[in-house]
Amino acid sequence: MIIAVDGPAASGKGTIARALARHYGLPHLDTGLIYRAVGASVLREEGDPASEGDALAGCSFDDFLLEDPWLKSEEVGKAASIVSAHPLVRKALLLRQKKFAAQPGGAVLDGRDIGTVIAPEAEVKLYVKATPMIRAQRRQLEQRKGGVFESLDKVLADIRARDERDTKRAEAPLRPADDAVTLDTSFLSIEAAVQKAVGIVEAAK
Ligand code: C5P
Repeated sequence: MIIAVDGPAASGKGTIARALARHYGLPHLDTGLIYRAVGASVLREEGDPASEGDALAGCSFDDFLLEDPWLKSEEVGKAASIVSAHPLVRKALLLRQKKFAAQPGGAVLDGRDIGTVIAPEAEVKLYVKATPMIRAQRRQLEQRKGGVFESLDKVLADIRARDERDTKRAEAPLRPADDAVTLDTSFLSIEAAVQKAVGIVEAAK
């Protein structure tokens, strides 16, 4: 069984994908981390994420970079959303993700284009969403735990800018697959959201 989980930043898709993977004993891939590793490599080499050549060079990152806590920062998240708009970058990273999805026994993948591009054949497609303000509040809380203190206005502006880039790009824009089930986590606790997600998977199995 392949479970595709898509949605915007801080919607809860990562938490839900991890919980589903645990629940069903499936391997999990956070595809955002791959784009973050590309963005981080470009920044580290003092390249320009908007340059397709620099971004493409960043695709040959070392896998140990995936473990770097710096990848979680907004700086890298922003670079990731810029490099991910380049068609050649998406092409370079396609096979790795498709292979992960196609492994025997199935997998859970989360990202922006899992249900639409990476695994359109997925048995279960979830589109996780929440209002921009609620996502900004969650992101701010997460940042504070990591010792980063930004105003809610700034966090909200970053979230909106990322939504804008991810939904408006020409290549694999963020959108629900036609056969995706939407899960709005705005007013749900993590436990309630996971419970709903399991219910959706059970209904689709
Ligand atoms: O999910 P996360 O915030 O870690 O993703 C970082 C960025 O990587 C996103 O804003 C998006 O632009 C890009 N991304 C993507 N396709 C995916 C996963 C992430 O374009 N499947």
